[in-house]
Amino acid sequence: MNEIRVGLLGLGTIGTGVARILIEQQELMSRRLGKTLRLAAVADRNLEGDRGLDLSGVRMCSDAQDIVTAGDIDLVIELIGGYEPARSFVATAIEHGKHVVTANKALIAKHGEELFPLARKHGVAIGFEAAVGGGIPCLKALREGLAANAVESVYGILNGTCNFILTKMENEGADYAEVLKEAQELGYAEADPTFDVEGVDTAHKLSILASMAFGSRIRFDEVFTEGISNITAADIEAVRELGYRIKLLGIAKPHGQNGQVESIEMHVHPTLVPVEAQIAQVSDSYNAVQVSGDFVEHTMYFGRGAGERPTASAVMADVMDIARVLPGGVEYLAPPMAYVEEERRDVATLPMADVECEYYIRLMVNDEPGVIAAVTSILADQRISLEAVLQKERHAGHQVPIILMAHETTEGNLQAAMARITELAAVNENVLILRKESFGA
Ligand SMILES: NC(=O)c1ccc[n+]([C@@H]2O[C@H](COP(=O)([O-])OP(=O)(O)OC[C@H]3O[C@@H](n4cnc5c(N)ncnc54)[C@H](OP(=O)(O)O)[C@@H]3O)[C@@H](O)[C@H]2O)c1
Repeated sequence: MNEIRVGLLGLGTIGTGVARILIEQQELMSRRLGKTLRLAAVADRNLEGDRGLDLSGVRMCSDAQDIVTAGDIDLVIELIGGYEPARSFVATAIEHGKHVVTANKALIAKHGEELFPLARKHGVAIGFEAAVGGGIPCLKALREGLAANAVESVYGILNGTCNFILTKMENEGADYAEVLKEAQELGYAEADPTFDVEGVDTAHKLSILASMAFGSRIRFDEVFTEGISNITAADIEAVRELGYRIKLLGIAKPHGQNGQVESIEMHVHPTLVPVEAQIAQVSDSYNAVQVSGDFVEHTMYFGRGAGERPTASAVMADVMDIARVLPGGVEYLAPPMAYVEEERRDVATLPMADVECEYYIRLMVNDEPGVIAAVTSILADQRISLEAVLQKERHAGHQVPIILMAHETTEGNLQAAMARITELAAVNENVLILRKESFGA
């Protein structure tokens, strides 16, 4: 098979980038592959408008169904996004014997467990490098480069929009709403930014990373998820003075004994990271994934986590991997989720209440005698010890912030204490709890 005929679903931001690579880099890719990738057909709901591409000779379809069932397409690239109809198109393409590459993390996180066996049954490959970390080849690193390691932890800054917002808030002292508006104007944030800023997009990606790292099935619905929308400029300033930055991290760690993974903790939330930690240096819309393995120790993958060109680059890396083994050699590819299917386990997610963290707690309290004593006594009752208690402002009779830095405890313990603390008459309901990761810094 010296020519691989590619069908592209969705000619939006990433689809346009992929078409551009297929046209502009064809010679380079042919030299690397020893075969040719040809953009044979494109489907989009709306084919009007100039995308700056010469698509002469490419079959243009307004119905994606025409491509996923076509006899003259070897490989389908799904770049429509969302759950449906993307899931149906991908399933139909597989059933028609076509290899599939997608950048759709929502699809893989939610329906991957249905699509992987389907692909296996039909003897086709499924690639999704671009679904996590955009242009960063982090899934390939985890699946292949680190294959000899038991993975000990995965941390990721996986959403460029959130990282851009938090970086701007820190650099400019600007408030969340103001920076979000700017991010939307610059095209970094969607008109409806909920999936990004509430951590759902990060949770999609984390669930894929965790499953690949620990040989478990994807359990996206069980990822504990908190977003960045209640972080204020004052909070960012307060943590900066203490030597920290706030990053929206996806965190996954295995638990168990004798090398057996018995449960996995998976959580997404704004996290306090020491400024000197490498992951704290990842700014603007950049992404990074830090994976630690028992032999390799710490590794980190950094780059553009989104955007037309970087994401298209990752999509095409998958296309080239598959094209290299065609015809009929998909068994020579590493398994899509890094473990052979029979060895992937249904591993429980550690309940968030049992996850252990260090905490930063910002309370707003009435500045009156005895408040700090009442708060610290509740924490002591829950056997939570404090590293520091900070009250910078004094303003008798008014609300002032108090910051508590708590040593490691379980989330359940901390929440039990917070339920009692927020019942105190002098404590305002406006509480910020940030979990802290030290990264050995
Ligand atoms: N943008 C990024 O930086 C980025 C990064 C990593 C991964 N991804 C993933 O890549 C995928 C594509 O993202 P994108 O940013 O390129 O999205 P996009 O710009 O919205 O492009 C999607 C395209 O698909 C078209 N479409 C929607 N439903 C269709 C259907 N039923 N049949 C045919 N065409 C249809 C859309 O048309 P309409 O405009 O008419 O809806 C649009 O042209 C998503 O899964 C996304 O999560 C994106």
